[in-house]
Amino acid sequence: MSSPATVRRFGPDEASFGCPLRNDTPKFDRLAHVYRWMEWLSFGPYLSRCRRAFLPRLSDARHALVLGDGDGRFTAALLRQNEHVLIDAVDASSAMLDGLRHRAGADVRRLRTEIRDLREWSIKPTACYDLVVTHFFLDCLTTDKVFALAERVILATTPNARWVVSEFAVPNGAFGRWVARPVVSLLYRAFGVLTGLQVRQLPDYSAALSAAGFSLEKQRTWLLGLLVAQVWGRKKRRPEHRREAPSS
Ligand SMILES: C[S@@+](CC[C@H](N)C(=O)[O-])C[C@H]1O[C@@H](n2cnc3c(N)ncnc32)[C@H](O)[C@@H]1O
Repeated sequence: MSSPATVRRFGPDEASFGCPLRNDTPKFDRLAHVYRWMEWLSFGPYLSRCRRAFLPRLSDARHALVLGDGDGRFTAALLRQNEHVLIDAVDASSAMLDGLRHRAGADVRRLRTEIRDLREWSIKPTACYDLVVTHFFLDCLTTDKVFALAERVILATTPNARWVVSEFAVPNGAFGRWVARPVVSLLYRAFGVLTGLQVRQLPDYSAALSAAGFSLEKQRTWLLGLLVAQVWGRKKRRPEHRREAPSS
């Protein structure tokens, strides 16, 4: 373990910032205090298990980007578990991010929060993340927006970066058709009413991550495939063939 003096942290002027949101940005503020209870009543411990599935493998992360972080239960746990990691958390909901800062406790010095609509957010050109996390956030975006986001994100990652995803899924077969699909569409309708979310179907985030340059490395599922946790890594660049210089 390193001494506190060697633990990196953000300065007070860097801790939290934001900018005006769009009119059509979903409004999760009013759910911030009840979100974890809604989750517990609908899916019991499963969403939490899904989020934390790969947490023990993240102790080597040094600079993480958590998108659509919500009330920060995962991020607070990552800060507790890994005393070297600095985290940038971006979300459109100030109330959710307040919950995260509160939850982080003394670790808040290694956390920077930003209130932003991620559909039009541009990453700082100097950013360099070795971990990206999206838990139950990509489903708030259309496939086009996930493509655009993934293309921006990869430019701000290190060659060995991982992207940890938790998501709902509709598996093939009768369970998918008769149970998972209606459950997902009910969730979309509920969040549409509660937050104004306009998206109504799961995006093809796998295609987006793959097109941006990530490949799936690990996956776990729960509830017969309704919940998925994944680790994506950056694709290794194939060595370019050296062209022989024409002999004179
Ligand atoms: C369903 S919640 C998931 C929160 C958390 N990651 C979790 O695992 O519980 C979706 C989160 O994404 C945020 N969000 C949704 N659309 C967004 C957007 N366009 N830009 C930024 N944040 C957004 C919401 O404010 C909310 O905190």
